[in-house]
Parts: sequence; C-alpha cells; structure tokens
Amino acid sequence: MLWDEDGRRYIDMMGAYSAVSHGHCHPRLVSVLQQQAAKLAVVSRAFYTQPLGRFAQLACHLTGMERALPMNTGAEAVETALKLARKWAYTVKGVKSERARIIACQGNFHGRTIAIVGMSTVPQYRDAFGPYPPGTDIVPFGDAKALEEAITPDTAAFLVEPIQGEGGIIIPPPGALAECRRLCDRHKVLMICDEVQSGLGRAGAMLASEHEGIRPDIVTLGKALGGGLLPVSLVLAKAEVMDVFKPGDHGSTYGGNPLAAAVGHEALTVLVEEGLVQRAAELGPWLMEHLGTIPSPAIKEIRGRGLFIGVEFHPEIVSATAVCQALAERGILTKDTHRNTIRFSPPLVISHALLNEAVDALEQSLKALCG
Ligand SMILES: Cc1ncc(COP(=O)(O)O)c(C=O)c1O
Repeated sequence: MLWDEDGRRYIDMMGAYSAVSHGHCHPRLVSVLQQQAAKLAVVSRAFYTQPLGRFAQLACHLTGMERALPMNTGAEAVETALKLARKWAYTVKGVKSERARIIACQGNFHGRTIAIVGMSTVPQYRDAFGPYPPGTDIVPFGDAKALEEAITPDTAAFLVEPIQGEGGIIIPPPGALAECRRLCDRHKVLMICDEVQSGLGRAGAMLASEHEGIRPDIVTLGKALGGGLLPVSLVLAKAEVMDVFKPGDHGSTYGGNPLAAAVGHEALTVLVEEGLVQRAAELGPWLMEHLGTIPSPAIKEIRGRGLFIGVEFHPEIVSATAVCQALAERGILTKDTHRNTIRFSPPLVISHALLNEAVDALEQSLKALCG
C-alpha cells in the first residue's frame, strides 16, 4: 500500500511496472541492503566478491541457465544480450562482419536506449530520436510463419517478450513461441527472451517462457530482481553463448556490485522462501475470474497470466486513462498502457482482501463512467 501526503491509503496495483513484486520495503530486503551497504558497496568488477558469486549461482540455478552477467537496468540487460548475439553470430555462426541482424516483434518494449527504441514500433518512443543502428527486422508478435520468412543466413537472434507487457499484456497464441523456438534451432538463430517484466514469478512461473515449454538461449531479467529497492539486472545464457564474451568485451561500473548482488540474491531467496511464484499462479486466475464477473459493456477483454493482467476497454465507450483516474479516486493505483488497456501487476505478496477491493473499485469506476 501507499499513502499520500494527506494520509490517504492507496492499493498499489501497478507495482512500479512490476519492480515491486516483494511489496514495498520488504523488511528482509531492506535489512540486507543496510547490512551490505555498511560493509562493502562497490568495487571494480575485475575483483571477485562473494555476494556476486552467490547471486550469479542462485540466478542460474533458478532459471536453468549456465552463465550470468550482471548489469543495472533492464534496457542495459537487453543491450548486452544484443551485443552477445552479434558477437556469437560473427564468431560461432559465421555471419560476415557487420551484417548480423536481429528480429524483434511488433509492439515490443525493451527499454529506452537508442538501439532499443530503434526497434520500437511505437512512434512516440522512436520518432525524433534517430538515426538508429541498422540490422533490425520486425515481425508480428506470436507469428511463427512471419518469423520463418524473416530469417536470413545473417540473422543472429530473435528477441521476444514471452508476454508483451507495455504492449498491452498480450499473450502469444498457444504453441507459437514453441514453434519459434523450433525455427530458431533449425536456422541456428539465438532465441532471446526478455523476461525483465514477465519473469521472476510475475506470470505465475519463474520464467514466463516456462508456460510455453521453451528454454531460451539468452534470458534478460531486471525490475523485481532489485527487490524494488535498486536497479539490478542480469543477462543469463547458455555457456556456449556467453563464453563468446572475453574479459574486456563488455563492462559496467556498477553492474554486479556487492550491494546490488546481495539485494538480488535476497530478492531471489525471498521469492522462493515466501512461495511468491506459486502465489502469483494461484491469485492470478482468482483475480481474472473476479474481474470477469464485473457486468460492464465497457470491458472488451481480460487477459493475463499470474498477476500480470490487462483489462482492455472498448475505446468508443471509455478510455483506459479515464478508468485509471477513476480508480485513483477510489484508492487504487494503476496505469494504462497500449490498446486502451489498464494493467494489474500488484506486488505478489498482495492479499485476497486487497484484490477484492480493487475489483470492487473497478466495478464502481465503470458504473460511474459508463452508467
Ligand atoms: C520487457 C521489458 N524489457 C526491458 C524493460 C526496460 O527496463 P528498464 O526500465 O529497467 O530499463 C522493460 C521496462 O518496462 C520491460 O518491460
């Protein structure tokens, strides 16, 4: 929950764009942050530190990956994954110098850096920020046939969010990502799953790609990895992929610092020990079911997995922005996203009672706005 300056209470159904999965200021995370900050916060990444070793090991163990490379923000993790894929293409796949291409999806959101907004299909995110690095192709999300047509011998990687978050909480058609995985294998293309938002239990599994039965070659994590306290991100990969990076190829002054690593390790530990992945898996369908009982013609579709849920409205009846404002007046905080959709991505520690309040508030808001 959050309180404003007048002491009014709000339920945070937004979770800071899924960064606050553990709840605000989780005492175990705050305690580890304080203890580590008092001991050692930042050293050169050239030096081994115990917190980083422990963190990388646990992250690999929980995600089934073999190598972990720490960064800070989600966008940096994705940029790192792209660099990795390009170097792999040149040194392993045999793509000719400067020709490697990356395939991304329509409606993607991978962050705000130049290379990444160059891949965006949202005019506001990309217009006025060019020119962009070349070497990107775009295919419709969840369309394996389009992916196959776009793959060329120069394709290094296919970059995809297993669930598009900022794009409007879009779930791919059943089996589509598994088919994309098969195509990547067949054409020797790396599959990069950007799980910065969908990972770490948000979608009711440690990685949302588990729902699709796939194992990516590279995974990016961020947001909740910092426990809602500080930016911590990771690029995880199979050994044969990550090992193309040699010392000095890549770096980050703060990436993997002992403070971030200690908090990241505790964030993963709390996720496991408090059963938060399972909690999202149970609460998500419960919330979807209750949202589904709201008798409003304004609702076009409710979709989601775990506690990563979008409610889309008919634009001719109501705008998602107006619904968010009406919800805020009733003590529920969230934010609209693309496709006239509001998202519910609350902390995974949320109770049934608070979720119920959110459902009631949505029903009242829609009544007030649409009659
Ligand atoms: C899927 C995905 N990737 C990357 C990012 C970028 O993360 P950051 O804002 O930490 O750079 C986001 C942020 O919303 C995201 O949803």
